[in-house]
Amino acid sequence: MSTLLEVSGVSVSFDGFRAINNLSFRIADAEMRAVIGPNGAGKTTFMDIVTGKTKPDEGRVLWGEKSVSLLKMSEAKIAQAGVGRKFQKPTVFEDQSVQENLLMALKKPRGWFPVLSYRPSGEDLAKVATLANDIGLGDALLRKSGELSHGQKQWLEIGILLAQEPRLLLVDEPAAGMTPEEREKTTDILVEAARTRAVVVVEHDMEFVRRLNCKVTVLHEGSVLAEGSLDHVTSNQDVIDVYLGR
Ligand SMILES: Nc1ncnc2c1ncn2[C@@H]1O[C@H](COP(=O)(O)OP(=O)(O)OP(=O)(O)O)[C@@H](O)[C@H]1O
Ligand SMILES: [Mg+2]
Repeated sequence: MSTLLEVSGVSVSFDGFRAINNLSFRIADAEMRAVIGPNGAGKTTFMDIVTGKTKPDEGRVLWGEKSVSLLKMSEAKIAQAGVGRKFQKPTVFEDQSVQENLLMALKKPRGWFPVLSYRPSGEDLAKVATLANDIGLGDALLRKSGELSHGQKQWLEIGILLAQEPRLLLVDEPAAGMTPEEREKTTDILVEAARTRAVVVVEHDMEFVRRLNCKVTVLHEGSVLAEGSLDHVTSNQDVIDVYLGR
């Protein structure tokens, strides 16, 4: 499969501390990838670099068939190019229904979407219904978002991102604060999303990572320590020493 994202030789220091150290790896189109590693390994910083929040000191971050550099682009431009990122704290509009939140998030040509006079088309409503089903909120379309459980709000947040049709979705510790049932449902949602786009998931919960059933990249001190199947990386002695055996 063709490469969607290529990070190569990337380093970034904060006050002389090398948080990312000559980091290189690739994500393919429509690939699911888990990124694991100890606290401070650079997992979140990696996402900050891809989304343009942090500019690296060295290295390349190339995107898409044309290998355009993301490093010269603003955060807004990178998002427009198809990189979506889920933050821990949901940004759903609590007073609006699930349906309204998803309608507002639908990808529209720029300048096309006069919010005040907006009447959803049948096509938009159908898209939103499909999205809601994909995130397990098919029966909650008309519920006020503020009334959803913590897990359901997280799923709505994922739905809002999917409504933008990103080619790459970055998700940092999605299972935090979720019940076991919600965790299981979240893996289903992410696996489904990765059928049509790349999804990169940072997560400490190994059961969660196992259910993603994908290639795993282990970061340590800002570099790739090991990569491969979960069984492969979890039997690696270095990985056991720095992460699993803590
Ligand atoms: N803006 C910043 N300024 C200074 N130091 C930073 C900044 N961002 C990250 N760091 C440092 O860089 C290192 C990597 O942090 P990062 O948040 O990427 O780790 P992580 O792998 O996401 O860890 P965790 O599993 O705890 O979320 C840490 O030592 C952190 O303190
Ligand atoms: Mg982090």
